[in-house]
Amino acid sequence: MNKNVFIFNHPLIDHKMTIIRNKETNIKDFKENVSEIGALITYEVTRGLKTKDVTVETPICKTVGKVLAQKIVIVPILRAGLGMVDGILQVIPTARVGHIGLYRDEKTLEPITYYQKFPKEIKDCTVLLVDPMLATGKSASRAVDILKSAGAKNVCYIGLIGAPEGVEYLSSKHSDVPIYLAALDTKLNEKGYIVPGLGDCGDRLFGTK
Ligand code: URA
Repeated sequence: MNKNVFIFNHPLIDHKMTIIRNKETNIKDFKENVSEIGALITYEVTRGLKTKDVTVETPICKTVGKVLAQKIVIVPILRAGLGMVDGILQVIPTARVGHIGLYRDEKTLEPITYYQKFPKEIKDCTVLLVDPMLATGKSASRAVDILKSAGAKNVCYIGLIGAPEGVEYLSSKHSDVPIYLAALDTKLNEKGYIVPGLGDCGDRLFGTK
């Protein structure tokens, strides 16, 4: 496994992953758990962020504290990525949110771009690219291409479940992008779904099936 791939082995995340994998889980619980996993993953992903010292005055005396030294931009890939944004914002409420609209051509499984919007200062920010399912890796890789073209230099990928094929593809195209996942599954099936996976994440989040 590539050194830049991190799979969380955490009891809270595993517990919530089992809830969202279960096909009997209703839309409300699915959405809440996806968001909560987003928050838990972010807590670990951001461990290495740079901080700077600032002086503040407590009710007792002056003291030196730390604040984040870099702005953070969350960029969900529409539409399933939206499901993790609220959870991430709970942990980093000052983050900006950009968007990338991509869909998979159902026959070729190739990503088609239909929307992109980022804050102007993206080149100076840490970018958290969010898409729950790292399946073929083609959408994620295209999204990183788009972010880099917009000037982003520091991109991390955050997802829920990866297929080995997708992890391999994204790492081979963008070895500088660390990949953070709650779980690494077995394979992709002939329709491009992750096995065992959780089905179509966008449909389960938005109740469209
Ligand atoms: N996208 C999904 O929503 N689910 C998969 O299993 C693969 C891609």
